[in-house]
Amino acid sequence: MPHLASSVERVPHSRIRELAEIAMAMDGVLRLYFGESNLPTPDFIKRAAARALSDGYTFYTENAGLPSLRRAIAAKYAELHGVDLDPGTEIVVTASGVQALNVAIRAVLDPGDEALVLTPAWPNGSSNVAMANAMVRQIPHPLCGDRYVIDFDALAAAITPRTRLLLYTSPSNPLGWVATDQEQQDLLDFARRHDLWLMADEVYDRLYYAGDRLGAPVPSILRKATRADAVIVVQSFSKTYCMTGWRVGWLIARRDLAQKATQLNEFIISHAPSFAQKAAETALAEGEAELLCMLQRLKQNRDLCLDALRSMPGVTVPAPDGAFYLFPKIDGLTDSFGFCRNLLEESKVGLAPGVAFGAGGEGSVRICYAAGREILEPAMERLARFLR
Ligand SMILES: Cc1ncc(COP(=O)(O)O)c(C=O)c1O
Repeated sequence: MPHLASSVERVPHSRIRELAEIAMAMDGVLRLYFGESNLPTPDFIKRAAARALSDGYTFYTENAGLPSLRRAIAAKYAELHGVDLDPGTEIVVTASGVQALNVAIRAVLDPGDEALVLTPAWPNGSSNVAMANAMVRQIPHPLCGDRYVIDFDALAAAITPRTRLLLYTSPSNPLGWVATDQEQQDLLDFARRHDLWLMADEVYDRLYYAGDRLGAPVPSILRKATRADAVIVVQSFSKTYCMTGWRVGWLIARRDLAQKATQLNEFIISHAPSFAQKAAETALAEGEAELLCMLQRLKQNRDLCLDALRSMPGVTVPAPDGAFYLFPKIDGLTDSFGFCRNLLEESKVGLAPGVAFGAGGEGSVRICYAAGREILEPAMERLARFLR
């Protein structure tokens, strides 16, 4: 009997999804397992999509996305980061952040190649490496005092002649960790020294609480890279503009990669939906005020959950600077999936098990705090009771 390709058989299930599937069959669950805001897409973006539909954005677009959207992305980088990008050759609009990851990974890895992935991390990066018939080496972030750091010795020890790619996520899902200026420079130097592609997943760059003002972005790696560097930035409209269901993202990369990703897009998805691209343009142009409101709310939520978690015995949780997750470590926990399933069944609180995020994740759980206080407050109370 014909069987499935061994490369796809090797791709593990998402353990976040596994937990979520149990939770979705239950009523009355306080759902904090998925990585999305409970807020709907702002009305001005929805209206822009409706306008785009009636203006005729129902046809195919360029494989790299609408030129007007690429120009808007370039203008945003100039405004936020002082970085000059060529919208014609260095920016590719994709049908989501995960599609940007997929096409970029396909463009740089051959079967048998190896990728270093800093973990705990959203599992899709590692799974995409596996789907490209390549090997993942996960390098956990050690916790040093109250901050996660990068283990450059472990990275160097994991290099082999087949290593081609280093993937990191800042702000991190699930840690909320944000790479410092020095860490970004060290990552870039490391990638240059070892001839690696450096892929920075920056989809949470606008959800940042440690800037000089709320709304300031995490500085992009593009501020440090030159045009000739083998750097790829993965981006998305999902988190900043509450557009998870729209499936629009982008990537920024050295010209040869951007060109190849554009060509491959034709065979994968052709392009992101035309009217959604047009609405994304409006999100970039008019989204700052709504973003600021969301950030104020997220910061309060983060602090509320941090205070609650820190009063629970046996729980350690560093204060995260970005994204919308907390990743508390629970003393003595060796089966985070079992813990989350029991918590769900006994207390109706749905969290994501740390084991879902790869090396360094077991022993912790992920809480997405982009929810209403009417959910977060009882969820924290029930978690405290369950731990007792
Ligand atoms: C770290 C990270 N990168 C990329 C994405 C992709 O987002 P999307 O595919 O919705 O654009 C996510 C979504 O959860 C994420 O957490």
